[in-house]
Amino acid sequence: MSQLAGKKILLGISGSIAAYKAAFLTRLLIKNDAEVQVLMTPSAASFISPLTLSTLSKKPVYSDVSGAEGWNNHVELGLWADAYIVAPATANTLSKMASGQSDNMLTAAYLSARCPVFFAPAMDLDMWKHPANRRNLEWLESYGDHFFNVGYGELASGLVGEGRMAEPEDIVAQLDAFFTKGADLRGKRILITAGPTYEPIDPVRFIGNRSSGKMGVALAEAAARRGAEVDLVLGPSALQARHNNIRLERVETAREMYQAATNLFEHCDVAILAAAVADYRPSNPAVEKIKKKREEMSIDLVKNPDIAATLGKSKKEGQLLVGFALETQNEMENARGKLERKNLDMIVLNSLRDKGAAFNHDTNRVRILHRFNNKTDDFELKSKADVAEDILDTLLRDYLT
Ligand code: C5P
Repeated sequence: MSQLAGKKILLGISGSIAAYKAAFLTRLLIKNDAEVQVLMTPSAASFISPLTLSTLSKKPVYSDVSGAEGWNNHVELGLWADAYIVAPATANTLSKMASGQSDNMLTAAYLSARCPVFFAPAMDLDMWKHPANRRNLEWLESYGDHFFNVGYGELASGLVGEGRMAEPEDIVAQLDAFFTKGADLRGKRILITAGPTYEPIDPVRFIGNRSSGKMGVALAEAAARRGAEVDLVLGPSALQARHNNIRLERVETAREMYQAATNLFEHCDVAILAAAVADYRPSNPAVEKIKKKREEMSIDLVKNPDIAATLGKSKKEGQLLVGFALETQNEMENARGKLERKNLDMIVLNSLRDKGAAFNHDTNRVRILHRFNNKTDDFELKSKADVAEDILDTLLRDYLT
């Protein structure tokens, strides 16, 4: 049975072309036996009729805090709900919520809500990327709110990029998982490495890579939400990871990451090494900024320690080690080679071939290879948050039960 059965869901709809998806979402929630109360911003009614939504949800739809019918009790609704979903969430509504405005039912109920809040943003790719919008998302995240990742594809403007509202089926699946997976990792201590490393050439330059840290941070958040105590060792990344169960240690170089990870590993049940660690570092970083004098120059590099291989050597009975592989050729062979060489239990193979997968995207497509058998688990292209749940589900299914 769906975990959504009997759950009271507030569904906030703001004014975006994607508002049509809110009708499908309402229908799916109702099909899963949830009780749905729809709130719409006044501009959302230009995109989808309140009548459609009140018919689907079998309840009146509220838009203004006060109207012809009197005062609508947003406080009561905020306390009533088991979850508040804002889908689609426009840049404008996100901005209002981030700064605590309460000029309509949807924004006022947000301030009164004591339940988990989820946003499904929908906007044009440039609005999505704008620093003002990024800051609003960070603020909302810092209040403990959750986001359904935006999709990549054609947008209402005709431009192609990130900003599409998550699909109703994915939203319902993630909500279902949220209510199901309350605490299936409670009692586990999980070490996660994430992000790139920066290897100094001189005081201003470094050798780095394109890793954003998104996959590792998604894993840390998913594991923490599912009750694990998480140690996240994060290379230089703009991302934040906020959850009471996450202890964040920021590092810069491969050697710092090595130091932090080897110190923490002993007390862990599982280590997931999602970081893109630089294989080499400049052997003699210059103390002063290097001047451009010569026509040619070369930098001598020396190998960095391999964190995965080191942890693989010291791994004790009952400890699990999960690595990542990003290959451009002979993917399976190379991944399996790493699995054996580094004494990993499981390796997650990222694909660089799939559009929207791996570096710097919000989505990823992975295959999981196991040490104990020759089987592979293949997954679809999904949001990194969903991929994180798949990885943790696989760990639980094959190793932790
Ligand atoms: O050998 P390669 O870098 O492709 O292996 C990838 C896996 O090994 C990843 O899990 C990565 O986090 C880990 N790794 C590491 N330390 C290194 C290099 C890679 O932990 N120095």
